[in-house]
Amino acid sequence: MSAQYPVARPRRLRRSPALRRMVAGTRLHAADLILPAFVKEGITEPHPVASMPGVFQHTRDSLRKAAHEAAEAGVGGIILFGIPAVKDARGSAADDPDGILQVALREVNAEVGDAVVVMADTCLDEFTDHGHCGILTPSGDVDNDATLERYASIAVAQAAAGAQVVAPSGMMDGQVGAIRSALDGAGYGNIPILAYSVKYASAFFGPFREAAECAPQFGDRSTHQQDPAGLVEEALREVRLDLAEGADAVMVKPALAYLDVITRVRDEVDVPVAAYQVSGEYAMIEAAAANGWVDRDRMINESLVAIKRAGADLILTYWATEVARRI
Ligand code: PBG
Repeated sequence: MSAQYPVARPRRLRRSPALRRMVAGTRLHAADLILPAFVKEGITEPHPVASMPGVFQHTRDSLRKAAHEAAEAGVGGIILFGIPAVKDARGSAADDPDGILQVALREVNAEVGDAVVVMADTCLDEFTDHGHCGILTPSGDVDNDATLERYASIAVAQAAAGAQVVAPSGMMDGQVGAIRSALDGAGYGNIPILAYSVKYASAFFGPFREAAECAPQFGDRSTHQQDPAGLVEEALREVRLDLAEGADAVMVKPALAYLDVITRVRDEVDVPVAAYQVSGEYAMIEAAAANGWVDRDRMINESLVAIKRAGADLILTYWATEVARRI
């Protein structure tokens, strides 16, 4: 092509893999990735989660192994979810010092706690027999303030068991403040709170409910989780409230369907922003790949790059170990 004037040629910088790599604006780092992991009480073999091929409900042993693999791959953090053998209305196992999550936190922290940040999901839905994230009123609503007392006690039990970060995910009003004062009062003033500040009532959580055995037995979570069609400003309000209550880092969840929210939150705050690539995002890509319809590895990478480019500093992803190995 000849021209009277210099033609803009953005293609010059795309000519070779080395050039593209050098000018890439978005890079994934293993240390930015956080692996969510499930541990189930009383099983002797890991149970595959049917709707999340490659994800398991771990035994204590297989969890330790997965934690070692994550550490060797350089993953930044691991967040643990516990599934107790016995559930009841108040989720008693959640703050039992010998409950499965506390046992697992102690063991994982003892083994890889220097290399990986060991975190706990702080919620009740895995522990209640009704599958809701809190204490119910007689009419079946989630009782906000009664639930806060439970969260406070759970966070203290998790910190005592070795959780280096607690991550409240129940979307009760005031949960960060309640947990912060309980941790401070119990001598855990140095334990940061990663707040699930912006969490939508999302269909993308579907497979998680199988993995964590926490599907609500009636109703749904739309009286406390956010409406996907709500104002972005509502997300920003949740973030501001959590920061005022003492959150050290905030999270947006799910990730891929809420990239605009991630960007707005990143612009708003001066703390790390995490995004959770949730179970449905994982299942969607794995299912399409299992059918031979998409290039699995490229799709995983592209989805993570999109979340990073939107502004997430940290990404929770079930692919954390695998991706950390190849980047
Ligand atoms: C609540 C919790 C949920 C997820 C993480 N923490 C489920 C829910 O709110 O219903 C979902 C994670 C995923 O879908 O991967 N303890």
